[in-house]
Amino acid sequence: MAATGENESLEDLTADNLTQHVINICTRNAPDDRTKELVSGLIQHLHDYVREVRLRTGEWETGWQYLTEVGQFCTPERQEMILLSDVLGVSALVDAINSAQAQSVSATESSVLGPFHNEAHVLENGESIGSEGVIGEPMLIHGTVKATDGTAIEGVTVDVWETNGNGFYDMQDPSRDGPDCRGVFRTDSEGRFYLIGVKSVDYNIPDDGPIGVMLRHLGRNQTRPAHVHFQIKHPAYIDLTTALYSRDSKNVATDPVFGVKKSLIKDFQWSEELPAVAKGYNLESSLQRMNVQNRKGLWVLEHDFVLLRK
Ligand code: BEZ
Ligand code: FE
Repeated sequence: MAATGENESLEDLTADNLTQHVINICTRNAPDDRTKELVSGLIQHLHDYVREVRLRTGEWETGWQYLTEVGQFCTPERQEMILLSDVLGVSALVDAINSAQAQSVSATESSVLGPFHNEAHVLENGESIGSEGVIGEPMLIHGTVKATDGTAIEGVTVDVWETNGNGFYDMQDPSRDGPDCRGVFRTDSEGRFYLIGVKSVDYNIPDDGPIGVMLRHLGRNQTRPAHVHFQIKHPAYIDLTTALYSRDSKNVATDPVFGVKKSLIKDFQWSEELPAVAKGYNLESSLQRMNVQNRKGLWVLEHDFVLLRK
């Protein structure tokens, strides 16, 4: 079919026939059926929205000016577009539709990846992910990775990342040059991983750009509940991206990016003694490295992750 439209008859376009006409023009030379489906669905829903709310010209201008600002705020280090998707619940919806774990009753549920995942050093079980003198209270993070039939999985990559005790990821903080509060571990023959991190704290999602303006305008909560992120991988199992959230946080029900699921809420427990599992794992030197003075105990976060076979 001609792409130029030469010799085609011109129809008068109205609010009633415009949508179908635009869909025809946009999809008639589309390379495949999926592209057609995506493009025609987008146009249909956009036009329906404009009709339904009877979008005014000034509101349309505000809309495109806002999207322009979101795009202009993006840099290689700052993805404001993804943040827009996050706060509108689109990222959580895409995850809910596509997550293999959502189809299983026993697999650990997924949660949003967020913009702060980054390269990290491979560390030994028992080591600290916090740099020397890191801000925050020490927390033992440990557990197992198993298959749905309960078999322990050896050699699983457990990539862990979190903020420091001030609520900042290393890449948000120019005073920290290099990976901090992140590390990659491997499960042992019993499927176990164990490391020292810091007690997670609630923190604000980046709010100095257009997304912050929108959240304040709508009177929305900007604070994510305290959490630790995990990306868990093994060649024979489906990758899992998830996070564990603190039951103590007052923000679990109002997470601005809709990542919290009930099964991912955990008690971050204070322990006066190193629990039995920590004995002999060289945690003392990790705690020393964190410069913990007069330590009376430490926080403990324990979770057993369950992966789905490929
Ligand atoms: C995070 O948890 O790191 C995060 C997720 C989505 C948006 C901002 C931060
Ligand atoms: Fe986070």
